[in-house]
Amino acid sequence: MFSRLLAPVLLFLSLGFGARADVLPPSAPVEERVRHLLAQMTVEEKVGQLVQYSSRDDMTGPAEQSSITPQLQSGGVGSMLNVVGAAETRRWQKIAVEGSRLRIPLLFAYDVIHGYRTIFPIPLASAASWDLARIEEAERIAAREAAAAGLHWTFAPMVDIARDPRWGRIAEGAGEDPFLGSAIARARVRGFQGDGSFADAERILACAKHFAAYGAAQAGRDYFTTDVTERVLRDVYLPPFQAAVDAGVATFMSGFNDIDGTPCSASPFLLDRVLRGEWGFKGFVVSDWASVGEMLLHGNIADLREGALKAFLAGLDMDMQSDAFGPHLAALVREGRIPESRLDAAAGAILTAKFRLGLFEDPHRYSDETREKTLLGHPDHLAAARDLARRSAVLLKNNGVLPLAGSGLKVALVGPLADAPLSQVGTWRARARKEDTVTVRAALRQLYGDGLRYAFGCDVRGDDTTGFAAAVETAQASDIVIAALGEDASQSGESTSRTSLDLSGPQLALLRALKTAGKPIVLLLMAGRPLMLEPVAPLADAILMGWHPGTMGGPALADVLTGAYNPSGRLPLSWPRSVGQIPYFHAHKNTGRPAPLREGDPYYSRYIDSPNTPQFPFGFGLSYTTFAYDQLRLSSPVLRDGGVLTITVRVANTGARTGEEVVQLYVRDRVGTLTRPVRELKGFRKIELAAGEAREVEFALGPADLAFWRGDMTFGAEPGDFDVFVGPDATAKLTASFRLE
Ligand code: BGC
Repeated sequence: MFSRLLAPVLLFLSLGFGARADVLPPSAPVEERVRHLLAQMTVEEKVGQLVQYSSRDDMTGPAEQSSITPQLQSGGVGSMLNVVGAAETRRWQKIAVEGSRLRIPLLFAYDVIHGYRTIFPIPLASAASWDLARIEEAERIAAREAAAAGLHWTFAPMVDIARDPRWGRIAEGAGEDPFLGSAIARARVRGFQGDGSFADAERILACAKHFAAYGAAQAGRDYFTTDVTERVLRDVYLPPFQAAVDAGVATFMSGFNDIDGTPCSASPFLLDRVLRGEWGFKGFVVSDWASVGEMLLHGNIADLREGALKAFLAGLDMDMQSDAFGPHLAALVREGRIPESRLDAAAGAILTAKFRLGLFEDPHRYSDETREKTLLGHPDHLAAARDLARRSAVLLKNNGVLPLAGSGLKVALVGPLADAPLSQVGTWRARARKEDTVTVRAALRQLYGDGLRYAFGCDVRGDDTTGFAAAVETAQASDIVIAALGEDASQSGESTSRTSLDLSGPQLALLRALKTAGKPIVLLLMAGRPLMLEPVAPLADAILMGWHPGTMGGPALADVLTGAYNPSGRLPLSWPRSVGQIPYFHAHKNTGRPAPLREGDPYYSRYIDSPNTPQFPFGFGLSYTTFAYDQLRLSSPVLRDGGVLTITVRVANTGARTGEEVVQLYVRDRVGTLTRPVRELKGFRKIELAAGEAREVEFALGPADLAFWRGDMTFGAEPGDFDVFVGPDATAKLTASFRLE
């Protein structure tokens, strides 16, 4: 009894108010340093580590608190989001460190989604590059700029599989496919975090979000309920998250959505059983913005105290902006509703991150104004952004008008996206500045001088067609028309679901008007998602999907249009013909009625007003050269447990110029104890071939690559017959088969 009473008094005397915590030297193992620090912390101080607030800038939801300085000084805040810039982060850090008893540094977090000042193409676009090394490099650069601006932590990568382009956040992910999505998740985590040592203060913590199946929102409406079976969750939506864990991702963010009736922020199944239990995740989980508080509106808790209890016990560690953990957790621990060991685990995981980042040695380690000045928008970063943007563009149609002919050409550039510096940056523009962005108009002006004529045409919204006449006149006076149409930055990203994916506003009418000029038309689509092209495609002689290509989008797309770069992007999603086909994805089931049994049979799985096929298949993209595939060989007709099957194919560049091809491997499991997808992506290689060059490309396949969640919810492959398909997209024709024994 005596010692229980005396201990806190002695602790208080030994530390004193404003005294620094006794922190073990860096030579001690991080776990020991954490334990030693936790032993000096009160319950309230531990809870403080779990609280994250936003500054008033860049908010995506309502901010509750007015001034949080007193909370910072009482050790009641562990992390801030939306405090950016070396000077600003230093100022906040000073308040937290110098004002509080234990002087524990803050973590500064921000949405560095596709760059900080130098903005790379939106994530969906860079996924279209299928270029893992360059995607990783882009995140390395994003981390480098963000780190110089005082940031420790990005809320990226978003690894949500998205099969519904009505959902605006499809722009932020890597598309529809779990295999491609997993490979890209690993690359992005490596890019942000490096080897995870944070030795040079140029890497930052990554965050895999939004756990989980947030992209499966019903009807494509953001924040809406998701209803997926555990098997679909595990087969489709979870693999990229697991890949992020395997790559060492430091943090996770729970989704806004509820699955099977449980909001993700309080899901013991997701946070405890799968993430920690099955995957062995050692980092910490932050809620999405106010998602603990939103459980009130989900109708799953009666008050914030219950929200704090449920979410924290489920495994959520940090409360972003709900004011649920801060006011309630300490009392819940004292009442014995929450074991202190759980509090130690959560606070310990957050402190671990701070130790790993070196913040106890120097809390201002990342806030370096000199580095910030020299690194933001560095020419090397701009060059990498340009390179990735051109590798992300997907050529969807070409009647031979592209690449554009030489410099004497008279080019009419028309449309609302041609000269829209911030729209071409797309969603989550971080610290992009209008004046740094090079538009398509600026880039083509450089190339064609007075041969380039520009007309705005119309906006992406409204019904004002007064610009049509000038646009048509410009087209008439030129040899070729480039129509830069699509979405502005506010039409995709968070909370931008659409029920129509047609070109918005008067854009289709503009295209029709331009057609009357009788000149070849190149449709340069710039958007955060696929737009429905059935009425549009016949009007265009070529279609280039440029996405929202970022700061250097103009020169990058000019490189592709002129052939300075031969397009190599391939779709990371199936491009539907119409909204009515959505959700659309290549790895669908066959059904019992995939095709008519006999001529004229109407009773098969179909629409009476549209083919089942997409406008463009997953993996599709054209080049200015052509490729041919042959000599598909398997190393054996049989694959045995513990064995590896080698699949070899010869790919030849049959055209007249050097080009890159994304060689794709698909597998079909012919008969399963459960129905299996018609095809699943199991490998890809991006290779460059000179004109006339041919090369053998090899893939290795083991039984583990054929695994799925079986009827009894065990994970593994089933013996039987498999088909492999190798080719340029999900309709690859070249096929062979083997037996798994
Ligand atoms: C988004 C997250 C983001 C967070 C913080 C939320 O509205 O869903 O993706 O990281 O805001 O800005």
